[in-house]
Amino acid sequence: MGREFLTVFRDWAEDYDAVVSGGDQQYLDVFENYDEILDKIVSLSGESVIEFGVGTGNLTGRLILAGKEVWGIEPSIEMRRVAEEKLPAHVTVVDGDMQSFSVPPYRVDTLVSSYVFHHLTDNEKKTVLKDYAALLINGGKIVFADTLFISEEEKAKLIGSYPNQDYPDLIDDLNREYYPYMSTVYDGLKEAGFKKIGFSQMNKFVWMIEAEI
Ligand SMILES: C[S@@+](CC[C@H](N)C(=O)[O-])C[C@H]1O[C@@H](n2cnc3c(N)ncnc32)[C@H](O)[C@@H]1O
Repeated sequence: MGREFLTVFRDWAEDYDAVVSGGDQQYLDVFENYDEILDKIVSLSGESVIEFGVGTGNLTGRLILAGKEVWGIEPSIEMRRVAEEKLPAHVTVVDGDMQSFSVPPYRVDTLVSSYVFHHLTDNEKKTVLKDYAALLINGGKIVFADTLFISEEEKAKLIGSYPNQDYPDLIDDLNREYYPYMSTVYDGLKEAGFKKIGFSQMNKFVWMIEAEI
């Protein structure tokens, strides 16, 4: 588990940047405010960061430009290849995933990710959150942006608002991957010892999740 969606990213790597910039009608709403979402993660981050699911390096590049120390983790060789072409040579992007990864030889003040956390099942999410506390300095935080839903009814209503014939990939994706309910993420963070847990909505799908240890 955890790496089960990698074939999606093998096939998506070349087009991914076009899609996040509005090139695919089906994903317009998912990636609405993409630049603002990444910028907000940067502004909420401290000085030393572990980033899960670097993808094509869009968040990584912004963190580096803002002067942060970044330890990037990305399981897809194809996504990593696109990222490495864009990023300065000194930036570390290692093969790993949210459950199994090498860590930098120092504690960091922030763990970040964008559009990644939903690749873990809810049980896997809860387990990794317990491990993440040990990577952070006292007062360190998690800043994750990802799709989540308030309730089963809200999820069904939102998915139902996209006609199947026009949005087949989006609907497949939303029903296949492990998009959590807000309460599941809140409980997982609380059980792992995080405080000051906050959620702010960035578009119809994506929420900024913040929590401090
Ligand atoms: C939708 S892309 C997001 C990329 C980038 N963070 C962004 O905001 O554009 C999801 C990324 O997560 C990676 N990924 C998939 N499963 C993962 C896992 N279990 N742990 C870490 N990354 C994963 C994929 O390979 C892909 O690069």
